[in-house]
Amino acid sequence: MKNISILGSTGFIGRQALEVIEAFPERFSVKALAGGKNWQLLAGQAKLYKPEVVAISEERHFQDLKKALSGLRIKVLFGDEGIKEVASFPSSNLVLASIVGVAGMLPVIEALKSGKDIALANKEALVVGGKLVNALAEKNKSKIIPVDSEHSAIFQCLKGEKKEDVRRIILTSSGGPFRDWDSKKIKKVKAEDALNHPTWKMGNKITIDSATLMNKGFEVIEAHWLFGLDYSRIDVVIHPQSIIHSLVEFTDGSCLAQLSPPDMRLPIQYALGFPGRLPKIWKALDLVKLGSLTFEEPRRENFPCLDLAYRAGKTGGTALAVVNAANEAAVDLFLKGKIKFTGIAEIIEKSLEAHNTVKNPDIEDLIEADRQTRNRIKKGSKIK
Ligand SMILES: NC(=O)c1ccc[n+]([C@@H]2O[C@H](COP(=O)([O-])OP(=O)(O)OC[C@H]3O[C@@H](n4cnc5c(N)ncnc54)[C@H](OP(=O)(O)O)[C@@H]3O)[C@@H](O)[C@H]2O)c1
Repeated sequence: MKNISILGSTGFIGRQALEVIEAFPERFSVKALAGGKNWQLLAGQAKLYKPEVVAISEERHFQDLKKALSGLRIKVLFGDEGIKEVASFPSSNLVLASIVGVAGMLPVIEALKSGKDIALANKEALVVGGKLVNALAEKNKSKIIPVDSEHSAIFQCLKGEKKEDVRRIILTSSGGPFRDWDSKKIKKVKAEDALNHPTWKMGNKITIDSATLMNKGFEVIEAHWLFGLDYSRIDVVIHPQSIIHSLVEFTDGSCLAQLSPPDMRLPIQYALGFPGRLPKIWKALDLVKLGSLTFEEPRRENFPCLDLAYRAGKTGGTALAVVNAANEAAVDLFLKGKIKFTGIAEIIEKSLEAHNTVKNPDIEDLIEADRQTRNRIKKGSKIK
């Protein structure tokens, strides 16, 4: 039996993970749940899955949550301390990290400090703190099992292979909703257009990141930390059908790929069940029905976020905190209608230019770079 804590259980990945867990009651038990502000859903999940502890990040919802769960033997917590307690809860041995954004990084660090294995959806934890996160995992002998479909694909293709036999990895990207739009049309994109992803259903932030290709850029950085490969050996190809989730090319030219219909329950199930496979097919692959799979170069001139991520990745250090914070702040401004879609990349580029990189940062340096970047953007955010 695996005892699981879910950080971000009220989000898209968290909800899908609970579906997977529900399908295997003899294998998984939910010990702790944490959410941000959706206390009603968190209360409903707690009543259904009966964890020992739940935590809500926003203190203003604590009393409502506590009241909703009164009479049940569930400890109710709030704030950063409450989330930390869920991350390090003693009776759990696996933590699904699915809080969105850099807010998910400190809980991941907390879970690693207490020796938990991590099923990692929160890519921002690796984008910003990859070096520290890897060092902690190594020190405490914790496994990090990727949940992101691309990294899950690579992880599966690398099973039993030697690192020195890998030539490069190729991350696939659907290209997002504006893959074939011209630059004039892209300038006029509205939030509702960007939230309409062609192949994946996801939370709002990652949906916008997918439309700008920053999500792919972050995945390149995530792959660098997960698989220990130089950026020159991580490529991106556009594959609009989202069936091949990524590939590994070996030194003899052989390529291994993982294929399945786009459905996050599969990589979640793989991560929770690792090292074995669990016997449930959520959506079967029908190659004949699909007919053809196509591939293209990313149109980097229309989607500058991809190269901005490579640039920050190669610079390393606090530049990684800056690229993430600038992206989070800019996406927020775009969703509020305060900047244009193309303004997201502009803000990120300006933020990287304004920053003096600390090469070997500790956690405080990363937090400070994040804070400075957000403040700088806040001051300039009135410009349309
Ligand atoms: N969706 C996908 O298909 C997908 C695929 C691969 C990787 N990922 C990664 O997985 C993560 C989650 O994505 P998602 O699509 O599930 O996002 P989402 O639907 O927006 O869910 C985010 C979750 O984080 C919680 N949260 C937000 N801020 C928090 C805070 N300060 N403290 C504690 N909890 C907080 C939210 O709680 P409330 O809703 O209660 O506020 C919610 O449970 C992201 O890092 C994303 O890049 C997602």
